[in-house]
Amino acid sequence: MDMQLMQDIVSVYGPSGREQAASDVIKAYVEPYCDEVYNDVLGNLIAVKKGTSGKKIMFSAHMDQIGLIVLDIDEKGFLYVAPVGGVSPMLSVGHEVMFQNGTRGVVSYENKTKKFTEITMMEVFLDIGSSTKEEAEEKVSIGDIAVFVSNFVMMGKKVAHRTQDDRIACAIVAEALKTMKSEHDIYAVFTVQEEVGTRGAGPAAYVIEPDLNISLDVCSVGDTPESVREHVKLGCGPTVKAKDSSVIVPMSVREFIKNAAKKNNIAVQDEVLRAGGTDTGAVQRTRGGILSGCISIPCRYIHTPVETVDMDDVDAAVKLVIACVEESELPK
Ligand code: CO
Ligand code: ZN
Repeated sequence: MDMQLMQDIVSVYGPSGREQAASDVIKAYVEPYCDEVYNDVLGNLIAVKKGTSGKKIMFSAHMDQIGLIVLDIDEKGFLYVAPVGGVSPMLSVGHEVMFQNGTRGVVSYENKTKKFTEITMMEVFLDIGSSTKEEAEEKVSIGDIAVFVSNFVMMGKKVAHRTQDDRIACAIVAEALKTMKSEHDIYAVFTVQEEVGTRGAGPAAYVIEPDLNISLDVCSVGDTPESVREHVKLGCGPTVKAKDSSVIVPMSVREFIKNAAKKNNIAVQDEVLRAGGTDTGAVQRTRGGILSGCISIPCRYIHTPVETVDMDDVDAAVKLVIACVEESELPK
């Protein structure tokens, strides 16, 4: 993995519905390796690499990150917010945020009599350093979305960042595009609005009409203290999804991915996600049904400031994407 590419793609601003800056960064990286790169009406970034077989493989990785949308500003200049995607009020408090225009702020909460673990978004507010409503309104408007500020935490092979979900997968697809060779048309789709209900991937797949879709996202792991039972561990390879809340992956698609992995000596893990959906399901239910599977990157602490992945899994996922596009026979 090109670490500069990874850092640029993972750290750019891009909450659900406001992915353009993230899209621009990814576009700059993939454009030299593609025949065509464009945004569709919803903002999905679609990078096309032409082949000769007449078959289409789509990859989908979501560009959007979770955030907080401003719904009201009070007389003292504090901002009240609603979650964009699965944001925990408790995990928001004490953190630093940033708006698209660079406005910085911090998150705290109002009802100091409530137990901290019981606070809801009703009690959470942002302080952007303003003393009056007018002063706040010079910097921020209702409907603006703040994202959490986060640095990369390098821990040997493990790397934490707030936005590994799912920019790490965007980086993996971008990196794979550099060297992949395929007889098939490759559609790398960097999707919008996954975190608010997998809204972007379906319309993109409807237009592309791929013979196979492989989504890439993060999945939870069972290797931390007192974790609930989960089969997947960090550092043991990317996963081949069997099920999440949005999809049951057809056996033929799982076998296709596993077979490509085996041929290239890439270790993979089987994955059943206890909860949470992905673009995999949104694509599967498009048109008359589309063959859709998913490769996941094992990730600790999903939707917290320290989403942690293992670079060995990341590098193996790049190889696995490349291995999949080298297959002549696509699943049926
Ligand atoms: Co997520
Ligand atoms: Zn995700």
